[in-house]
Amino acid sequence: MWVGAAIGGEEWRDPGIAKLLASEFNMLTVGNYMKWESVHPEPGRYDFSHADALVAFARANRMALHAHVLVWENQLPDWLRLGNFGRAELIDILCRHIKTVVGHYRGQVYTWDVVNEAIADDGSFGDNLWLRTIGPEYIAMAFQWAAEADPDAILLYNDFQSEGLNEKSQAIYALAQGLQAMNIPIDGIGLQMHVWLDGPPTPQDLAANMQRLAALGLQVQITEMDVRTQYSTLGLPEKLRQQAEVYRQAMSTCVAAANCKVFVMWGTIDRLSWINEHYGPDMPLPFDGNNQPKPAYYALIEALRGP
Ligand code: XIL
Repeated sequence: MWVGAAIGGEEWRDPGIAKLLASEFNMLTVGNYMKWESVHPEPGRYDFSHADALVAFARANRMALHAHVLVWENQLPDWLRLGNFGRAELIDILCRHIKTVVGHYRGQVYTWDVVNEAIADDGSFGDNLWLRTIGPEYIAMAFQWAAEADPDAILLYNDFQSEGLNEKSQAIYALAQGLQAMNIPIDGIGLQMHVWLDGPPTPQDLAANMQRLAALGLQVQITEMDVRTQYSTLGLPEKLRQQAEVYRQAMSTCVAAANCKVFVMWGTIDRLSWINEHYGPDMPLPFDGNNQPKPAYYALIEALRGP
């Protein structure tokens, strides 16, 4: 099993975090530094410096690399977002971007998140720059170009709140099936798993979704797990206990699924989680602010060991 953590910035330079990453994880996700605004800040100008340093850290610690993300609506630079490009122009920009970024890391990436969050809750294509300007075929184009630029990388479609069975996961299943029917190289589905204590899919639904994707020959990966506790009125020990169970069930379901070999959390320690900034103070990860393991950590270890 590959067990990973996403690194959003420079926190890996902190010796305590570096030690935690090296000792507890064998995969690293580049959380922000491969996004457009970071890696492609001006038209035709690429800045790989931040991502390269992180990639070197992962390699030095023998961690598999999960690269994130080629096509998404968020964290786009203004030149792109406000550029009013026509369809042919945007296709050309996207093609060059994918060829350049994927090409730069060719042979070093285990998994690429090719397209992120393209499906809305109701199963329709979610509104974004790419859909508006290019049309839904941007998805197939992106997978095709990514495969050409690095034939060995595992190529994923990645999304949230579509881990179990619902309209959105049904649409993602149909999207993958449609891509396969067109011979577009897609290898798997990333299940982000940003959940909260009452929010996760049932283990039965999660297993069923993994199973139907396996029937298409697709991998599944837990790509961004964290478990918010802030909406619960329970006391701290009970919150921590329930959080541990949410992590345990997700890991156990992955371990039991033949096509699930990757389990990544979106961060390392609670204090550094993106949730604090985006949703309010929380403790969504398996390590506390002092880098110490929480009940969730021990639950994950038990689930990894299996029955
Ligand atoms: C988040 C980062 O962690 C934050 O630092 C940034 O401000 C916003 O994006 N789904 C994704 C990730 O696919 O790229 C997001 O990362 C979290 C939700």
